[in-house]
Amino acid sequence: MTDATPDLADVQGNILRGYRKHLVRHLVLSVRDRHAVGNWLLDATGRDLATHQITNAEPWDESPSTCLNIAMTPQGLSALNVDHATVETFPPEFVAGMASRATKIGDVGESAPEHWKPEWRSPELHLMVSVFADVEADRDSLSSEVLAIGGGRAFGLLATLDGAGFPGGLVHFGYRDSISQPRFMGVREVLNRPDRQPLVEIGAALLGYPTPIEDVVFDVPKPEVLGFNGSFSAFRVLEQRVAAFEEFLTTSAATILASSLADEVLPAGIEKTWLPPVSRLDAMRELVAAKVLGRWRNGVPIEMSPHTPTPQPPITEERLNDFAYQQDADGLVCPMASHMRRSNPRDARIVQRSTNHSRRIVRRGIPYGPQFDPAQPDLPDDPDKVERGLLGAFIGASLLSQFESIQYDWINLGLLDPRITGTNDVIVGNNDPAFSCFALPVGDTTIELRGFSRFIVTRGGAYLFIPSLPAIRYLGQSAA
Ligand code: HEM
Repeated sequence: MTDATPDLADVQGNILRGYRKHLVRHLVLSVRDRHAVGNWLLDATGRDLATHQITNAEPWDESPSTCLNIAMTPQGLSALNVDHATVETFPPEFVAGMASRATKIGDVGESAPEHWKPEWRSPELHLMVSVFADVEADRDSLSSEVLAIGGGRAFGLLATLDGAGFPGGLVHFGYRDSISQPRFMGVREVLNRPDRQPLVEIGAALLGYPTPIEDVVFDVPKPEVLGFNGSFSAFRVLEQRVAAFEEFLTTSAATILASSLADEVLPAGIEKTWLPPVSRLDAMRELVAAKVLGRWRNGVPIEMSPHTPTPQPPITEERLNDFAYQQDADGLVCPMASHMRRSNPRDARIVQRSTNHSRRIVRRGIPYGPQFDPAQPDLPDDPDKVERGLLGAFIGASLLSQFESIQYDWINLGLLDPRITGTNDVIVGNNDPAFSCFALPVGDTTIELRGFSRFIVTRGGAYLFIPSLPAIRYLGQSAA
């Protein structure tokens, strides 16, 4: 273990910073010619500067036109000639793989691994190479360069996953995403953005450093050169059923408007002060969207603006994380059951008090599939027939203590607060209409929104190791 801050030249860049590129292409690959792959790994980490280099975390004045990162499964490590004993030094959940954890993380029913796309069920799933670019031509040419390695015989291409950002940083369901990310100690950060959360120990993101859990360093796979400064990603292909979600907003708004509590939930007439003014039904739909997430769809935290997405004066961009939950102990503004409060309770009083700031994860996500247009549903009989969703990487030094604990304990079971245990995360829960329930506290009572289905379906995914640059060189030597 080291207390030192990481050498950013050794760390893959996508762990510590979002590139904010418009386009991402994930190439899902098997290793066909390990010698060729090994040589490419060596070339791409300094041996041959004519080869596109794997992007590290060093600061840059200007973002390059393309970035390149890699991650691998345990099978990928073996395919690169890493021996079994070494693979076994990796954490058991990584070695077992995402599909084996399906029940725990809620991939059941339609989301069960037996329904996943073939690339995610393939024993040949070894490597993910991710290409980030601003324009299609750059994305395509770098992807082709990768696929041409070894005369085109280095890799087998299992799948090409293309993601493209929507204007305004929106994702499907219409929310603005990628606003909250952990800010790490000792790493160059934009510190002029107020955030009431403590800086996070770098060991939450990189292997080999102190973590937010006192006296805990997550196990570093051996040898040290392979494990140190690495990280893990829970990569998920999450299909989003946007039409069904919009329908849920309409039904829930109508339920609330029909109740005697409507004006307590949203003061009568306030929608006329919104910019632009909207109908009472539309305002209530937007309020439900904000309550189930924790932000209005434009990114304004509901905690900072309980009754309007367009407060005056406006909340500036830098202040979008300048909020806490302790003063809202009963969730009257931001419900405890909201997606954000479940996945990061910040300073709220929760049952497992010591875990409050300990499960921070880095999120790198981009939408795939066409943007939903409510005026033009894809098909009249089934508006969600066209597949669209999120290509999401949930990154941290421990899959077990971060991604899985958030997904299982907090999102799926609601164990953080007895008042929401057994209720659902509307956005990402594995919701069953027979039992689903969202608890919306109002005054001294609670409105229960019920009967909603799941709005995301897992179409595949994998647990991936994100090696450091020295580890990639080590792997290159082992394979070449
Ligand atoms: C399609 C699926 C998902 C959608 C549409 C979604 C959407 C969002 C949005 C819009 C935000 C608020 C934007 C921001 O603050 O950056 C957010 C925050 C967050 N989400 Fe998700 N999410 C999804 C899946 C997940 C999953 C699977 C996890 C974890 C297992 C997760 C964990 C988080 C966390 C940790 C935050 C930040 C909360 C905070 O720091 O306050 N999300 N999500």
